Amino acid sequence: MSLIEKAAAKIKKSESLVERAAEQLKNSTDKAIKNSVSAKKSISDPVVESNRLNVGKKSLENNAKVVLNFDVLRKNNIQTGLEMESSATTEEFRIVKRSLLLNAFSKGEAAIKNGNIVLVTSTQPDEGKTFCAISLALSMATERDLTVLLVDADVAKPNVLNTLGVKGDKGLIDVIENKNMDLRECLLRTNIPNLTILPAGKKHKLTTELLASERMGEIIAEIARRYRDRIVIIDSPPVLASSAASVLALHVGQILFVVEAEKTREEELSDAFKLIEKCKNISLLLNKARFTAGKKRFGSYYGYENN
Ligand SMILES: Nc1ncnc2c1ncn2[C@@H]1O[C@H](COP(=O)(O)OP(=O)(O)OP(=O)(O)O)[C@@H](O)[C@H]1O
Ligand SMILES: [Mg+2]
Repeated sequence: MSLIEKAAAKIKKSESLVERAAEQLKNSTDKAIKNSVSAKKSISDPVVESNRLNVGKKSLENNAKVVLNFDVLRKNNIQTGLEMESSATTEEFRIVKRSLLLNAFSKGEAAIKNGNIVLVTSTQPDEGKTFCAISLALSMATERDLTVLLVDADVAKPNVLNTLGVKGDKGLIDVIENKNMDLRECLLRTNIPNLTILPAGKKHKLTTELLASERMGEIIAEIARRYRDRIVIIDSPPVLASSAASVLALHVGQILFVVEAEKTREEELSDAFKLIEKCKNISLLLNKARFTAGKKRFGSYYGYENN
């Protein structure tokens, strides 16, 4: 049986698993949905918020806060999960989130080392990694007791801040490069109360070497230790276009692998899986699938165990 055939068999099996997970977490999510209505009220008006921040420049330096640009988000088709009407995409990310959360915080024998750290990757550019990482982070941030750290680890082509319509400065690469820099100096709090961002930082010509360095492992370990109760979503470069993704895969507990419908090729998937095989918890997300009226829309998410 080829790797892909095995994956397909597991995909089939895992559908019921996802459904079970969805069922188990339905109640808590229902609460989160109600919660999101009140969370919506607590999000500051962007204009008021930036004025307030300009007044306290000193506090901004140590504890920067950015305001997501909802117009930019809309332009990029990103749903915050706080809209009055829930879209099909929002619903689908709720299903994806539930299963990842089950893995992230499972206890006892089922516990996964660094399970709360989720790498979002794919085989090639443009398949939707950043879109999915941001959508997932926003969906998770609507949960009552969950805080989310969104990390832009695509240091060659950082796109998280642009997609959210915010600006940033220091980030992951700066912390890797500078041993004296504390991770916290680079974190950006946002006007979504449970969402913090670690930007990619400045461009560096030795990006891959830096990401592959021991320091990178130390930083992920530090994130895992410091933010044990938090979900960390890492937007990564594509596996077949940069060795950074396979290095990152060594340090995370889960991978959400984005497959672009009608584009990602089977052989590429197979090659990519070999490069990230050290991570044993890989979930596949079928992105950009065309919806045919009358057909079941859910089921665009599958669990895949990389054994
Ligand atoms: N499910 C989706 N619905 C609507 N638009 C999408 C979806 N997925 C991706 N896109 C759009 O497709 C384009 C590519 O997506 P994105 O930037 O997330 O890809 P990527 O895999 O991160 O690319 P890169 O490897 O270059 O960083 C973007 O314009 C994004 O808004
Ligand atoms: Mg991207």
